[in-house]
Amino acid sequence: MTKETEKQLVKTALEFRKRSYAPYSHYKVGAALLAKNGTIYGGCNIENAAYTPTNCAERTAFFKAVSEGIKDFEAIAIFGGYDGGELKICAPCGVCRQVMIEFCDPDEFLIYIGTSENNYEAHTLREMLPFSFSPKELEK
Ligand code: THU
Repeated sequence: MTKETEKQLVKTALEFRKRSYAPYSHYKVGAALLAKNGTIYGGCNIENAAYTPTNCAERTAFFKAVSEGIKDFEAIAIFGGYDGGELKICAPCGVCRQVMIEFCDPDEFLIYIGTSENNYEAHTLREMLPFSFSPKELEK
C-alpha cells in the first residue's frame, strides 16, 4: 500500500468516527476498510437501547462493502476513544476479527490501530487472530 493510501485510510476512519452513534458507552469508534479495487468503505459503531444489537465500526464497514458486492480486502484502519477524550488504541473485538477471517487472508490483511493521525501501527490478521476457525475448516 502506498503511504498516500495509508494516510487516506487513517483519515477516513477518523472522519467516520464523528458519525459514531454511542449514546450508551460514549466510546466512539471509526473504521475505514480498503477493498482491493481501491474503494474505501467507512464505518462507525452504532449502539442500541437494547445493547446487544450494537454493531462495531469494523463490522459496519465490512457489511457495507459486502452488501455492495465487494469481498476482497486489503486493510482496515480503526480508531476509538471516549467522546471528547484522547484516542486510545482500539484493537478489534473478537467478533469483528471473526468477520475479518471470513473474507481476508490472515497473512495479507493489515489492521491499522493507533492514537492519532500520525501515530499508528499495522498488524496482520494472523497476529490478531491465531488458531482461527475460518471457511477453510468447512471445506470437504
Ligand atoms: N466497539 C467498536 O466499534 N469496535 C471495537 O473493536 C471495539 C468496540 C464499540 C462497541 C461499542 O459501541 C463501544 O465500542 C464500546 O464497547
